[in-house]
Amino acid sequence: MTTDPMLLEVRDLTVTFPTPRGPLDAVKSLDLDLEPGGALGIVGESGSGKSMTSLAIMGLQPRAARRTGSVRLRGRELVGMSEADLRRVRGDRVAMVFQDPLSSLNPYYTVGLQIEEAYRAHRPGVTRRAARKIAIAALERVHIRDAAVRVNHYPHQFSGGMRQRVMIAMALSTEPELLIADEPTTALDVTVQAQILDLLQEIRRETGTGLVLITHDLAVVSEITDHIVVMKDGVCVERGAVEQIFTDPRHPYTQALLDAVPRIDDEIGELRAVVPDAATTSPATENTATENGGPA
Ligand SMILES: Nc1ncnc2c1ncn2[C@@H]1O[C@H](COP(=O)(O)OP(=O)(O)O)[C@@H](O)[C@H]1O
Ligand SMILES: [Mg+2]
Repeated sequence: MTTDPMLLEVRDLTVTFPTPRGPLDAVKSLDLDLEPGGALGIVGESGSGKSMTSLAIMGLQPRAARRTGSVRLRGRELVGMSEADLRRVRGDRVAMVFQDPLSSLNPYYTVGLQIEEAYRAHRPGVTRRAARKIAIAALERVHIRDAAVRVNHYPHQFSGGMRQRVMIAMALSTEPELLIADEPTTALDVTVQAQILDLLQEIRRETGTGLVLITHDLAVVSEITDHIVVMKDGVCVERGAVEQIFTDPRHPYTQALLDAVPRIDDEIGELRAVVPDAATTSPATENTATENGGPA
């Protein structure tokens, strides 16, 4: 390849639902750009069209909805692509992680089997034995200790944070170019949330996987994305570099979202008052270790 096209280029994406009162645009004329290895945050309150955007990128919008516009992955148009080709793109070149890992995991199968099956679905011909090795390596990659043992455990034997690690391991097993994470930390405690964000950041750095991170929480995107798109009622109301959005928000809605972000300094101050050595212990190592300790 002589050119290096954008990893993801979305133009004029619109998702319309028929309603008794006429058509309703859940997403309206949205443009998104993501460079290879880049990280884009999509932020907005509940109902602003974030999830519909991520689904529509992959052609997974509800059947009732009509999707128009253009979605290009490395220059290749996904809108209008055959279902068979789309299935190949999904999970192979693009992977998704959702808010609730429990609903995405089957309680009756070990996490190892589920990672193996997901992997083999996209790599036909791979033996069980080889897939098992991939599954263990994937669990190690997301820092689940004793991966060779844990691979045989069932979802309920993992805590919420660990389950989300399993989902991320599964998503990354095929080494996708793009990871779309829709509220991946929303269901988790604040400390665990920080650990998952650290993990996503580390994976980005080490593998160069592009990231679209969707959240209602501006504090979350500010940690690991370089650009932010702010959505309201299906429309992008503001976009820019993280620093620009934080220091000089143009839209009152962005300002309102910013006002909802707890001042990080205050939180650290409070934490210090309660736990005297909170500032010196590394929360990531500490809590990953305890969380890893066994079933929740
Ligand atoms: N099945 C549906 N039928 C009609 N409208 C829908 C349907 N699903 C979602 N919507 C509309 O899409 C909007 C955006 O939803 P969603 O993308 O889930 O928001 P977010 O993820 O930002 O919370 C909703 O406010 C709703 O109006
Ligand atoms: Mg959503």
